[in-house]
Amino acid sequence: MTDKIFEPYWEKDGAKLFSSFDVSKIETPAYVVDLGVLENNLKILAEVKKRTGAKILLALKSFAMFSTFPLIRKYLDGVCASSVNEARLGKEKFGKEVHTFAPAYSDKDIKEHLKYSDHIVFNSFQLLDKYKSAIKNKNRNIEIGIRINPEAKGADNDLYNPCAPCSRMGVTIDEFEPDKLDGVSGLHFHALCEQGADDLANVLKHVENKFGPYISKMKWINFGGGHHITRSDYDVDLLCKLITDFKKKYDVDVTLEPGEAVALNAGVLVTSVLDIIKNDMEIAILDSTAEAHMPDVLAMPYRPTVIGAEKPSVKKHTYRLGGVTCLSGDIIGDYSFDNPLRVGSKLVFANQAIYTMVKNTTFNGVRLPSIILREKDGKLKVVKRFGYEDFERRLS
Ligand SMILES: Cc1ncc(COP(=O)(O)O)c(C=O)c1O
Repeated sequence: MTDKIFEPYWEKDGAKLFSSFDVSKIETPAYVVDLGVLENNLKILAEVKKRTGAKILLALKSFAMFSTFPLIRKYLDGVCASSVNEARLGKEKFGKEVHTFAPAYSDKDIKEHLKYSDHIVFNSFQLLDKYKSAIKNKNRNIEIGIRINPEAKGADNDLYNPCAPCSRMGVTIDEFEPDKLDGVSGLHFHALCEQGADDLANVLKHVENKFGPYISKMKWINFGGGHHITRSDYDVDLLCKLITDFKKKYDVDVTLEPGEAVALNAGVLVTSVLDIIKNDMEIAILDSTAEAHMPDVLAMPYRPTVIGAEKPSVKKHTYRLGGVTCLSGDIIGDYSFDNPLRVGSKLVFANQAIYTMVKNTTFNGVRLPSIILREKDGKLKVVKRFGYEDFERRLS
């Protein structure tokens, strides 16, 4: 429970990961994103760029809060997009390179990508063949790539594992058609999710064993996302070595497109307790929701950190934290607190910048959380407030 200033709110291995702010001033629900933390992450990524010469892109699918782009643009090379809308946002609001991959494209998508994308990566030779000439005939240079599936050990959870059995993500070596590589300047793979450099080393072995003969024919290779580079225990030295060795061996440019690592721990979700009820245990109902405001809590699933709280029964007062939607399973988890919660208590959920704003919904008509920037001088700036119009606009 956080009624007042937290200093710092989130500490890991002695590192202060989020600056203090006065929670009582926040109109909830709201995501608060700290530009200072974001910049610390960006400095780590910039260091990797400097040491290796790799390009690093922001994966918009994870974090697309464009009011932060002026800062991110100073450190990163561009964005990675998954759709026409993301590519357009990247082109118009970020303004550097736009690299696009989607599992498939329509004629209309490709027409739009010709305006916005600098790299277009295909997921099959069939669509590559279909659209190659339209891309080559464009009077600006657009690089064409093909996504490969290294069939390595990826994430443990198949929901996030592009190398899972029968995955639709990338061409496997059995389906690879080397005679169709004319006009293709790069390979792309994405196999990791919140993983370390040792996992990347393992994936690279699979990539090299299977696709080695084709890599040196390419100008670039994109190592995808899922690299948890800004996590305190990430082995940055190993990452730099892997990239440097790879570049040297194959004489190719290397690109990374992390999402999570860019905004890891850079945002919180501030919520208020609306009611407390009892059914064998005490249940606090919040003005937020896992289902609509923190969807990965249910999809992944995972238990987000609540500042000042512990696992159930560790502290004196245990509560189940529940969302404000009608979904019975809209439960964030059970937590214990030093002091009893009451109506109006504010709770702060850690690490809520990534995969929240981009995935949230207005299920049940719930209001989307406001988006607030904590600027480097500590000022809180509301950059967006959502209302009825946002709910209505999506329906007809
Ligand atoms: C193709 C691709 N690139 C990049 C990313 C970003 O991954 P992360 O946010 O885990 O770094 C993803 C995530 O799904 C992806 O599918």
